[in-house]
Order: sequence, then C-alpha cells, then structure tokens
Amino acid sequence: MIRPGRDSDSDGFIALIDACWSRYPGCRLDVDLEVPELRALATYFAGQGGALWAAEHDSRITGMICVRPLDAGAWEICKVYVSPDLHGGGLAHALLDAAEAYAIAAGARELVLWTDTRFDRAHRFYEKRSYVRAGPIRVLHDISNSLEFRYAKPIDGIAVLDAAGAVAAIPRLSAILTACVAEGAGVSFLPPLAPDTARDFWQATARDVAAGHKILLAGWVDGVLAGTVTLVVAMPQNQPYRAEVAKLLVDPAARRAGLARRLMTRLEQEAINAERPLLMLDTRAGSGGEALYRAMGWTLLGVVPGHAVNKDGGLDDTAFYWKRVVV
Ligand SMILES: CC(C)(COP(=O)(O)OP(=O)(O)OC[C@H]1O[C@@H](n2cnc3c(N)ncnc32)[C@H](O)[C@@H]1OP(=O)(O)O)[C@@H](O)C(=O)NCCC(=O)NCCS
Repeated sequence: MIRPGRDSDSDGFIALIDACWSRYPGCRLDVDLEVPELRALATYFAGQGGALWAAEHDSRITGMICVRPLDAGAWEICKVYVSPDLHGGGLAHALLDAAEAYAIAAGARELVLWTDTRFDRAHRFYEKRSYVRAGPIRVLHDISNSLEFRYAKPIDGIAVLDAAGAVAAIPRLSAILTACVAEGAGVSFLPPLAPDTARDFWQATARDVAAGHKILLAGWVDGVLAGTVTLVVAMPQNQPYRAEVAKLLVDPAARRAGLARRLMTRLEQEAINAERPLLMLDTRAGSGGEALYRAMGWTLLGVVPGHAVNKDGGLDDTAFYWKRVVV
C-alpha cells in the first residue's frame, strides 16, 4: 500500500535507507550528524511545499519517495528507496508515478534528481523513466564521500544531450529505434532489430557526440522521452557550412502530436548556432517524414529509385532534400 508518509514513520524510513545504503561499499548513514530531517520527514517536506509517500506492507515500511518544488518550474524527486528484498517488483515505478503525478499536477515543467554515483541500479531505473544525465557531478563532502549525478527531464520539451546525457538516453532511444524499425521505417536497419544492435548504434552516437561530430536532440511528451533527431556536423574539410540530418524518430505511441516538427525546428536553431546553414537529408519517398520536410520548406533534390531494401524485402525509392536555414 502506498500512502502519505508520516513523521511517525521515521524508524521505518531510517531502517529502509540503512538497508539500501549498506549494499554499497563506503555508504554510511548517521542520521543525527547528516540527515536529522529523517526524524520528522513529513513536516520537513510539507514545510518546503513538497510531499512524501511511504509504501507499507505488513506494518513494515518497504518504500519511500519525496518531491519538492525548486524554482522556475523545476521539482526535485528525492529519497527514492525500495527495500532490497522487493527490488524488481515494480514498487519503485509505483512510487515514482505518485511523485511525478503530484509534481505535474502542481505545475512542474521539469523534474530533477540527484543520485549517488555508486547506485548503478537506480541509474538504470531513472534512465528507463526517461531521465537523462544533465549537468556536472556534485561533491557532498559527507562521511560516505558521496559524489552524485544530476538527472533531469522536461515534462514537455526538447533538449540537446551532451555525451553523458546521450549515454543515459540509450535505453529510451533504443526502444524508440526498435519500435520505428519494427513498423517498417526506412532508417538504416531492418526488423527485427536485435537489442545489442540498437544499443551499439546509440553508444556509437554518444561517442560521436563526445567527439563533437554529432549534435543529438531528444524530445519529451508527458514526461516520456519519445523522439530524437541527430545533426551530423563531421563533414569534409571543404564543406564546413554543411550538416546532415539523421535519425528523426518519434515513438509510434506519440505520433501526430507535433513532436517531429518541434525537434526539426530546434535542430534548425542548433544548426544556425553551429554555423551550419546548409542542411541535407534523405528519406523514403512518400513517407510521413517526407510530408513533414515539405511542410517545413525543404527543397527536393531528386528521387533515387530502388535505393533501400524495405522490411518486406522489396526496394524503396529515397528522396534527397536540402534546406538553407539562414539567408
Ligand atoms: C516521420 C515522423 C518522425 C513524424 O513524427 P510525428 O511526431 O508524428 O510528426 P509531427 O506530429 O511533428 O508531424 C508534423 C507534420 O508532418 C506531416 N506528417 C507527419 N507524419 C505524417 C504522416 N504519417 N503522413 C502524412 N503527413 C505526416 C504532417 O504535415 C504533420 O502535420 P499535421 O499533423 O498537422 O498534419 C514519424 O512518423 C517517425 O518517426 N517515422 C519513422 C521514422 C522515419 O521515417 N523518420 C524519417 C527519417 S528521414
């Protein structure tokens, strides 16, 4: 049962956090020295305009989560803990659902959280929930010598991912690529796309982002990372003002709500910022992508017949487009 947390849950919260931390070398909990608010956590978060939930089974506290407003529409998710014997059972998802829904109903436009660099299992969980690494590591100077990653996601918005963000986005980007390939999108791969192939592709993209060869954008809808597009800026020496658009992908569950258009609009802005006014791309002739590019003012260069194999083994024509984003 998930219910609002109470100050009187403090012994249960402390035992829960202790059980979670003790699984990681060097993590030590000294409540009175470092987290005295655990003695009255409901009062503490209520005082900050936030909220606290507890999961309780057979009179035992098995999970907890808190949320509080920061500034400029950002809300922080904190103290996400699930009893180790229940890991993998979906309780963390249910707790995060409650906290995210509360923050969104209160007007949150962005969710952020800090997580110990050692809590690798938690990182995979946040990444599955569409959070990406954003910003530098924080040093706490505490008895556990904690270093923390910052994760964040807009509720609805577009962001440029740096290399750490790109790596954190791999689970969602792989899921989107796999879904698009499965429904027959002409985006280099054929179905069924093996999980390793999808992951390797985005891993290589993250390396290219780190090297400055690609600019990777992600788009969120209702707190879910649902779309992406890449600007390839590694061009031959004699074409310094050109870039190529690649892998415009929107999760089939989030189609026709304007996300691809918003991604392309932001991509054009990033191209201007990177001093790449001349853009090129190719797309399957007659696809939804082609309709979007035409609607956004791209010029058709030509169509190459029989250019790519499709999921049924036939050959598709590919249309090549260009656009100058500044005059
Ligand atoms: C192409 C794709 C990115 C469009 O994503 P989307 O978020 O649904 O697109 P948007 O909602 O932003 O659409 C904007 C406009 O593009 C056009 N468009 C998009 N999808 C279309 C479709 N299937 N048929 C016709 N027009 C379409 C429309 O003009 C649309 O405006 P409207 O909805 O007001 O009519 C998505 O269908 C996709 O991921 N397809 C598979 C991958 C792919 O082919 N990518 C292109 C590679 S070059």
